[in-house]
Amino acid sequence: MKKKIAVVTGGAAGIGFATCQLLAENDYLVILSDINESLGKTAANNIQEKGGEAIFHKLDVSKFEEVISLIGKVVEQYERIDLLVNNAGIGPKRVQKTADHDLDEWDKIVAINQSGVFYGMKAAVGQMMKQGFGNIVNVASLAGLKASGTGIAYSASKFAVVGMTKSAAWEYASKNIRINCVCPAFTETALLNDSELGHPEMKAKLLKAVPMRRFADPIEIAKSILWLASDQSSYVTGHALTVDGGMMM
Ligand SMILES: NC(=O)c1ccc[n+]([C@@H]2O[C@H](COP(=O)([O-])OP(=O)(O)OC[C@H]3O[C@@H](n4cnc5c(N)ncnc54)[C@H](O)[C@@H]3O)[C@@H](O)[C@H]2O)c1
Repeated sequence: MKKKIAVVTGGAAGIGFATCQLLAENDYLVILSDINESLGKTAANNIQEKGGEAIFHKLDVSKFEEVISLIGKVVEQYERIDLLVNNAGIGPKRVQKTADHDLDEWDKIVAINQSGVFYGMKAAVGQMMKQGFGNIVNVASLAGLKASGTGIAYSASKFAVVGMTKSAAWEYASKNIRINCVCPAFTETALLNDSELGHPEMKAKLLKAVPMRRFADPIEIAKSILWLASDQSSYVTGHALTVDGGMMM
């Protein structure tokens, strides 16, 4: 197997799908995983039709037994895992202030966005230690670096992704395993457009806060993930890379 083996979570749509497409164009065999089976199968077929290699696996990242089982199957078949992209995530459906925040929504966001990333790293790093190399890119958010009006649960989960990235990167830096995260700002995907923040009036307001005066295209986030996954960034680890049209400055 000459191609590198990549596992991408939440690969059926948005940033995850753009990442799967780009990885497939860059000599990766992509294990495209997602909770949405029909969308995931269509996404993998779409990549195959364009000559890439993508194989769909159903996965709910909030269930550790499913995550460990998927990583086990990949290793059994390909004997290694070069790259894990922990991308799957959900946003708040509506903006809720802390005092009014729904408890179920808190649990759901933390289970998927935070525990899901921990489970992915826990499952993959053991294998990466055995093989003596590996690369993990987590998808955090600008909401993991500063207050962003997306609510306390989303913010907590994304600050956690940045913190877990640095913590794990520090632990494995001497083991030839690099772990980084990307921190996108508003990106044109269903996560943004199906939420309260996606209403045209709200988007017009949000745009004023973006120095570049446009939202990101998912492919622009995918390119930063590919860079962190590649040898072009060989001395970079534990980094939280903002991809935000200048919002952080
Ligand atoms: N769109 C933005 O503005 C934005 C900004 C910053 C960060 N992000 C982050 O980028 C990542 C991707 O989001 P997106 O904008 O592409 O959203 P999206 O909704 O377009 O895609 C998310 C994908 O994750 C899948 N998914 C959801 N829950 C899952 C679960 N439990 N297990 C496995 N898959 C699951 C969905 O089915 C979907 O295919 C998320 O972590 C999100 O928090 C997005």
